[in-house]
Amino acid sequence: MAATSGEARFQMRTVYVNGEYRPENEASVSVFDRGFLFADAVYEVTSVLGGRLVDFSAHMARLKRSLAELGLPSPGSEAHLLAIHRELVRRNDLDEGTIYMQVTRGAADRDFLFPSEDTPPSLVLFTQANTLVDKPAARTGLRVISVPDLRWSRRDIKTVQLLYSSMAKTEAKRRGVDDAWMVEDGMVTEGTSNNAHIVAEDGTLVTRALSHSILHGITRAAVLKLAEESDIRIEERSFTIEEAKRAREAFITSASAFVMPVVEIDGTPIGDGKPGPVATRLREIYIRHARDTAI
Ligand code: PDD
Repeated sequence: MAATSGEARFQMRTVYVNGEYRPENEASVSVFDRGFLFADAVYEVTSVLGGRLVDFSAHMARLKRSLAELGLPSPGSEAHLLAIHRELVRRNDLDEGTIYMQVTRGAADRDFLFPSEDTPPSLVLFTQANTLVDKPAARTGLRVISVPDLRWSRRDIKTVQLLYSSMAKTEAKRRGVDDAWMVEDGMVTEGTSNNAHIVAEDGTLVTRALSHSILHGITRAAVLKLAEESDIRIEERSFTIEEAKRAREAFITSASAFVMPVVEIDGTPIGDGKPGPVATRLREIYIRHARDTAI
């Protein structure tokens, strides 16, 4: 069913809510859902290329870890979640885009105390049709600003507490650029919804090591493996905005951006101000790998 909203025509999606596939305008969750009241929820975003899921098992492994860290109940087996993802791809005829999945601690009367453990979790999934491969930004690069990282200290858990990241990205747009890199104790943590990387003057790929300070990006892990296989030297360590400004290249990784060059930080062009060869090559290699391994 097609609907018209303003100038944009969009397709009425089928979404998944707690066991049912529903038209998006008929799907709902309780006002007492703890995801809504307490951000007591975790999520994953998996990309879809050619109607197939990229890095699905890795996303599910991270979901399992996020659930365990917060003592959230499991919404079902990997096979069950895969079946829902695939059914949403089929029902929405999704060729390229992402699937968002959220698990919450379920609905219970508002109380800071967690509800009893037999409270069923809420499970919501929806698709977003988007161009992921042929993005103009891959040819022009992104411009970013730096902002202080004011998020909580367990960024390794993929919770839906995204208000600060959302504020930072909105501030970046307000200042005429694309995104923000967050800085804590003088060191870059990550982008608002992506991992941050640089290519140092000697060609080494420098990226912050995994800890509680950043999300353990699935794309980051895949890209580092591919970089290693391409004989690119990798150093997992923190770096400053000043070092990033002096770098040969900078780029981000995420499930929706894949590898995307960054060409300017706080008004300073990186390298010659154009997407660099390492980021461009890693983007190509990653997309090929993603297409080859998607399920
Ligand atoms: N964001 N860091 C943060 C803070 C993120 O939100 C994300 C992903 C990443 C990259 O992780 P991955 O490679 O697994 O996507 C790093 C998703 C795409 C989002 O919130 O839409």
